[in-house]
Amino acid sequence: SKEGYPHFMIKEIHESPKAVRDTISSLVSDLDVVEKISEEIRQAERVIITGAGTSYHAGLYFSLLLSREGLTAIPLVASEYYNLKGRKGDLVVAISQSGETIDVLLSIRKLKSEGAKIVSITNVIESAIARESDYKVYMRAGPEIGVAATKTFTTQVATLLFLYSYTFGKEWKSLKEADKEVEQAINLTEGFTKRIGEELSKKASVYYLGRGLSLPLAMEGALKIKEVSYVHAEAYPAGESKHGPISLVESGFPVVFINDGEMPELLKNNVMEMKARGGKIFTISVNKKIGEADTEVFLSSKFPVLSISPVIQLIAYYAAVSKGLDPDKPRNLAKTVTVE
Ligand code: F6R
Repeated sequence: SKEGYPHFMIKEIHESPKAVRDTISSLVSDLDVVEKISEEIRQAERVIITGAGTSYHAGLYFSLLLSREGLTAIPLVASEYYNLKGRKGDLVVAISQSGETIDVLLSIRKLKSEGAKIVSITNVIESAIARESDYKVYMRAGPEIGVAATKTFTTQVATLLFLYSYTFGKEWKSLKEADKEVEQAINLTEGFTKRIGEELSKKASVYYLGRGLSLPLAMEGALKIKEVSYVHAEAYPAGESKHGPISLVESGFPVVFINDGEMPELLKNNVMEMKARGGKIFTISVNKKIGEADTEVFLSSKFPVLSISPVIQLIAYYAAVSKGLDPDKPRNLAKTVTVE
């Protein structure tokens, strides 16, 4: 039941702190598995990260973390699996909320037959993808009814951040408190996100721009608003936007910048470029402001990715609701995609 919420999507966004808390405690209570997966990651010649849609974006985020450590990390859109030949020494990390997405299943089957080992991260115990994996990680996000992935994306990213931090000797224990950052982000931005969502809902098209670890979030922000509110949205690496996309920007064209605090000066250049063409600028900033925006949502957080995740989801939710759409049942979409 929706327990008093008008839609599952908003209920499930609000369940994200608990989903993250339960998932991190489950990982902490089973460090043996985490240790084994960490060994595999450290020893792998290549780490291939496969997933579809939102889960692909979580995987892209993970691949950036690993590449920054010098690993050969290859993000793979699951449905494009035939473009990659696997081999011994490959470790595949398959990310799927449902654990049943056919493209992901086919990608792991192919890579496994070519010699790869498989780690799966799913939210459903003994799902098809989990059953065919050498190592299984289960998220504890609880059931997700809304078609759009919300709490499960935040939980995927938390799980991947945990695996990364553990593997590379970073401070993983502080992730036990990560749910508080998620909760705070939701509580502090409901008003802002409602206003931004309403404004974007009136637009035909919107850009989401980010750099570095914010790029997968920009991609996810664009996917989410497109999916539930039918506002056309595209994501680009912010620096890439001047190589073509900027020609669309004219007076009032909305541009959402995702700023995880890592490169605010570089992002500011891109903000200025968009502003000079009359772009309407929204920034979601963590820890460091960019300034110059029409609206800047600002948060402080130890885990920027986990704070930004619910914010982009809330914007998409409010955009859908202000158009009178049912965000739980976007047209043409099914919760689990079992056809190729
Ligand atoms: C978007 C969305 C889809 C799924 C994709 C993969 O909100 O929900 O893009 O992320 O279909 O699904 P899973 O994670 O179940 O493999």
